Amino acid sequence: MDTTEERAGGRTVLTYGTFDLFHIGHLRLIERLSQMGDRLVVGVSTDEFNAQKGKKSVVSYEDRAAIVSAIKGVDLVVPEESWEQKEADVRKHGVSVFAIGDDWRGKFDHLEPLCEVVYLPRTQGVSSTEIKRLLRVLDPAHLDEIQDAVNILANLLTHYRDLT
Ligand code: CTP
Repeated sequence: MDTTEERAGGRTVLTYGTFDLFHIGHLRLIERLSQMGDRLVVGVSTDEFNAQKGKKSVVSYEDRAAIVSAIKGVDLVVPEESWEQKEADVRKHGVSVFAIGDDWRGKFDHLEPLCEVVYLPRTQGVSSTEIKRLLRVLDPAHLDEIQDAVNILANLLTHYRDLT
């Protein structure tokens, strides 16, 4: 593909994501993406765009963008503010490859006239949503429930000891 970037002697890879509570799945994806080209541009979803998607991140856009920028292999972070910006970003950054996890399989095929579109396998067993679900278990309401259960168990053990 003869993109501006390739004419300039490099292959630019582009991806997008929220990258909330940065985890090993995010790291593995970025490692693979950076190996696919010479330059990696990452669009990080803004808090406003996440609200449009019905998502709310624990970590703010500014902090998520700073974390992703600091990861080895990431050359540029841009804000992802809408679904429609992808075509313009591909042109603006001379992108050769658009790549994203396969939870998005088929969703960005419309970019194929502009660049190669690749869906990469996700790392199994980890997601920001799952981490948030686990963290919710530790919120004060659940801690009270756990305390109640422990008290009931302690009482049962006392009765059992009295009976034996
Ligand atoms: N990703 C991955 N492996 C995972 C989790 C995410 O390869 N275990 C990839 C996604 O496919 C996407 C990028 O990382 O290309 C950013 O995904 P994001 O939605 O921010 O992360 P998730 O952990 O999937 O968050 P959520 O559970 O909120 O969807």
